[in-house]
Amino acid sequence: MTDNIKLRAVCDKDAPFLFQIMNSESILDALNELPTQLCDWEDAIKEWSKDDDEEDYIICDGESPIGWIGINNLSSNDKTAYLKLVAILPTHHNRGIGQNAVCQVIDMMKQIGYSKIALYTDLDNHKARACYSKCGFKIIDTLEEEMSNGKTVSRCIMELKL
Ligand SMILES: CC(C)(COP(=O)(O)OP(=O)(O)OC[C@H]1O[C@@H](n2cnc3c(N)ncnc32)[C@H](O)[C@@H]1OP(=O)(O)O)[C@@H](O)C(=O)NCCC(=O)NCCS
Repeated sequence: MTDNIKLRAVCDKDAPFLFQIMNSESILDALNELPTQLCDWEDAIKEWSKDDDEEDYIICDGESPIGWIGINNLSSNDKTAYLKLVAILPTHHNRGIGQNAVCQVIDMMKQIGYSKIALYTDLDNHKARACYSKCGFKIIDTLEEEMSNGKTVSRCIMELKL
């Protein structure tokens, strides 16, 4: 059931949750990221609060934080928002929560006049690709990219016209 899935703006008190989820082994693996410290997230939240280009939300099931979704490119004039990242606690995968959260962001962007949402994901991240495809995103290009963990990965750009 996804009836209780809500997005709320990230605030200072979310640093321990972001530290926890973003050090989960399977999430680090899926994102090709490196482990981080709590202070990295405290600093990131402070930076985001000053940055007009980006908005970050905690995905909540009722009151409980279960994920993070971030959007950027919001200060550009091209009316294209980028889905920077979606991460959901591994215990909550494959229940439609990713699709619900992405659809909420799509609705928000439509309401404020955006014409397109784009994102990058790994070609072999089948769960993420299925989630985005079900929200209407289509692959428009592919590329190779060196990731934070040093791996070179085949990636795709997906796009949704609003
Ligand atoms: C990607 C992510 C955000 C998706 O969230 P989620 O809540 O698990 O996604 P959903 O349940 O809404 O949709 C996933 C779909 O993929 C399908 N799926 C799962 N594994 C799959 C696979 N190996 N191949 C194809 N489809 C798959 C699921 O069945 C589901 O489709 P359904 O609704 O028709 O059953 C989440 O899995 C996550 O946090 N992953 C780790 C971080 C990550 O990779 N983020 C994306 C970076 S771009």
